Amino acid sequence: MFFKKQNKQEIDMLRIPKHIGVIMDGNGRWAKKRGLPRSAGHSAGADALKKIITEANNLGVKYITVYAFSTENWKRPKEEVDYLMNLLLDYLRNAEKTLSGENVVIRAIGSRKELSQEICDQIVKTEEFTKNNTGIVMNIALNYGAREEITNAVREICKDVKNGKTDIDSITDKTVENHLYTKGQPEVDLLIRTSGEQRLSNFMLWQVSYAEMWFTNKLWPDFRPKHLRQAIYDFQNRGRRFGGI
Ligand code: FPP
Repeated sequence: MFFKKQNKQEIDMLRIPKHIGVIMDGNGRWAKKRGLPRSAGHSAGADALKKIITEANNLGVKYITVYAFSTENWKRPKEEVDYLMNLLLDYLRNAEKTLSGENVVIRAIGSRKELSQEICDQIVKTEEFTKNNTGIVMNIALNYGAREEITNAVREICKDVKNGKTDIDSITDKTVENHLYTKGQPEVDLLIRTSGEQRLSNFMLWQVSYAEMWFTNKLWPDFRPKHLRQAIYDFQNRGRRFGGI
């Protein structure tokens, strides 16, 4: 893919997308191309992610949601699942060091039910540890699936109706939003997917309703800050109408 040279000056700093979603795809292929185990691709992916978070934070992006493990990823070989879980655990544990005091707020979104106690405890610690930071909010989508998220919201709203807390006729899209993992956060403006695949794979189906989609053939471990800047530049040069004219 052809990338025009972009630098921070060419990006309009007043129109930075508030919320970016990232489907970090291609770790396995990256490793295969090098004759390495898939786990090496995931490690390289975690390294690539650090640089992207730093860049997004510096550019003034307020929220970034990264798809780290989907509700469907349990179908992978146990060895790979275990590797990914350990990588995530390490990432959460070293959050302070990894993101070198960069003021990042870390949150995990997704169902905690199937996660190990160790990961759940670490999530609570990391969220607590970073909650007063004032920089970018990084949502790590971990055991996340948008259908599960929306189904859960429906269930919670039904409970509220049953308990008389909510009147059926007062339910709006805001009611639904308030029951999503991203409650209180702006919707996704820009969705990036790497590795040449062009699908949503059950990622933030509600929140990406009006997102601009940006695809690249780059495999995730090769994704660099200059590619993020290119995506933002392209985003700023598209006409968003939100259904209007
Ligand atoms: C998809 O590539 C990627 C994943 C399922 C995992 C994403 C995880 C990381 C980038 C690393 C850890 C993240 C954090 C937050 C520390 P794939 O394995 O499906 O690649 P393939 O399509 O080439 O096989």
